[in-house]
This record gives sequence, C-alpha cells and structure tokens, in this order.
Amino acid sequence: GWSMENVLDEEIKVIKSTVGAEDHVICALSGGVDSTVAATLVHKAIGDRLHCIFVDNGLLRFKERERVMETFEKDLHLPVTCVDATEQFLSKLKGVVDPETKRKIIGREFICIFDAFAHDLEQKLGRKPTYLVQGTLYPDVIESCPPPGSGRTHSHTIKSHHNVGGLPKDMKLKLIEPLKLLFKDEVRELGRILDVPQGFLKRHPFPGPGLAVRVLGDVTQGNALDILRLVDEIFIQSIKDAGLYDTIWQAFAVFLPVRSVGVQGDQRTHSHVVALRAVTSQDGMTADWYYFEHKFLDDVSRKICNSVRGVNRVVQDITSKPPSTIEWE
Ligand code: XMP
Repeated sequence: GWSMENVLDEEIKVIKSTVGAEDHVICALSGGVDSTVAATLVHKAIGDRLHCIFVDNGLLRFKERERVMETFEKDLHLPVTCVDATEQFLSKLKGVVDPETKRKIIGREFICIFDAFAHDLEQKLGRKPTYLVQGTLYPDVIESCPPPGSGRTHSHTIKSHHNVGGLPKDMKLKLIEPLKLLFKDEVRELGRILDVPQGFLKRHPFPGPGLAVRVLGDVTQGNALDILRLVDEIFIQSIKDAGLYDTIWQAFAVFLPVRSVGVQGDQRTHSHVVALRAVTSQDGMTADWYYFEHKFLDDVSRKICNSVRGVNRVVQDITSKPPSTIEWE
C-alpha cells in the first residue's frame, strides 16, 4: 500500500542509485521545514557525503542561529557548516530602503557565500560537488509551471521571492528534489518519520530575506534589528504560552521607522512604534487577520513596553490579504 514509509524507502533507493559512490552533495539549509526534511532524507541515503551550509545573514530572529544549529547537530546529526555573514549582509544593506532592492541584495550575497562554500569544499575533497539538494514542493512545481487549463498563474510576481532555492545557475550542479511530489502536510509527515522534532515541523513560515522585510526602511537604522528581535520573541512566546501557535499561520512583529511621543515614569519619551501581525491562512495566498482576546493583547503590549528599551507604542495590524500582503514589505 501507499504510505509515507514507502515514499521514504523509495526516495532513499532512488537517491542511492542516482548519486555515485564518489559523488558529493551540497545543501543550503534555511532553518525551515522543507530544506531540513530534504537534507535529513538525503543524509539517510548517502551519509556524510552530504555537506550542508547554514548562513547567518544577520537578519535572523532571536537566538535563531543557536536554535536551528542545535536541531541540525544534536537532533538530526546533519553535517552543517554555519557561516556568520552578518557584516557582509548588513554592510551591503546600509542605506537601502526599497523592499525589492533589499531582496535582490540579499539574494546576491547569498549566492556569493554559497559559491565560496562550494569552492572550499572542492579544495578539501579534491573534487567538485556534483549534486544540489533542494526542498522544492509540489505546489512550487505547479506554480512555476502551471498545468495548462489549470487557471493558475505565476503567483509570485508581486514580490520577488528569494528562498534559499535561488542558487547559482552556472555551477552546473545536478538537482536532487526529494520532496517535489509532496504537499506541505506530507512533508511534515515525512519529517516525523525521520525524527525531525515535532516543534520544528510546526514552525511558522519565515521569509528568506528575514527581518530585512520586517524593519521598514533601512535595516541598519539604530538598533532596529535588536529591538525587533526582542519584541518578536515576546509576541511569539506569548502566543505559544496561550496555546495559539498552531492555530495561527504566521505571527511576527514589524519595526516601524517612526517615533511617537509617550510617557514612562515621569519622563516624556520619543521612541519607536512596533506593529504586531498575526494571520490565519491555508497557503499564504490569502489570509485573515487573527482576532486575539483583548486580555492577551493587553498583556503582550505591556510586556513589550516594560521590557524593550526604546519602544513606547504597540499597534496591531488588522488588515487581511488582500488588500494587504502578509509581510509589510
Ligand atoms: P506576502 O507578504 O507576499 O507573503 O503575502 C506570502 C508568504 O510568503 C512569505 N514571503 C517570502 N518568502 N521570500 C520568501 O522566502 C520572500 O521574499 C518572501 N516574501 C514573503 C511570507 O512570509 C508569507 O508566508
């Protein structure tokens, strides 16, 4: 019969027979479900001839690098090189305000780092890596090449999406896409069989350009990134504590490039405004803003202003998609 166990066995067989005994394979991990499950599967088939890279672009959430590296290494035993490229990314993003320009810069820097990783690997192994693992899903396949008459159009022309998937075309790597016939829920099921921690499999989607599209305007303004990380962590932790995390498609904070007047103690303040966004959705194409209880919002707002220096105002985004998008940039 057809089961996810069979799919897994079959995939492993295919990978073993495709990848030659001397071949090496590389994979860029984003910290998301798809690339993690794809890498874990390939690792099971070919062991340490798989070489993964995780790039800290300086645009990650609170403790994100530590958290995902712990899952990769301790839970999944994946061979991962972690590259801290914070300075490289932030220096290129300095002064940039246009959202699409930010995405382009981030995509380009990523390719640069990936290239260097592949070259280092070639030096070390004495041969070029031949395959690249990508966590492409079935909906991605349909989306980039809609079946005739399906009425689907290419959906991501509104924003250029730079998943870690957008990799160098001139590297002549052959693709391994073990998830390309699966839907998201099937990937989660596969991940469960591969012992990817349940909490990890349920993580909300996170955009490739990371916090760059959640700090409106110049990402490097003041300590915007640090403020945003703290606010976002309080919001997400509160959502988890309230048992709402799995009901919500995506939740996050946004840093606004404005200041407003407030009063804290007997001091007049002129500080930052942050916005909270939470939506429910089936696939991210449309979304409804999430109704929190007033008590929940009140607690979160107080916690943020009491513990994050430089924030004196919290607002909630109450627009659905359309007319808004899920992200603010
Ligand atoms: P929007 O904001 O277009 O987002 O309603 C829909 C879904 O896509 C994610 N998103 C991105 N993901 N690179 C990504 O990998 C991007 O540039 C990007 N922009 C938006 C967003 O988080 C939501 O899940």
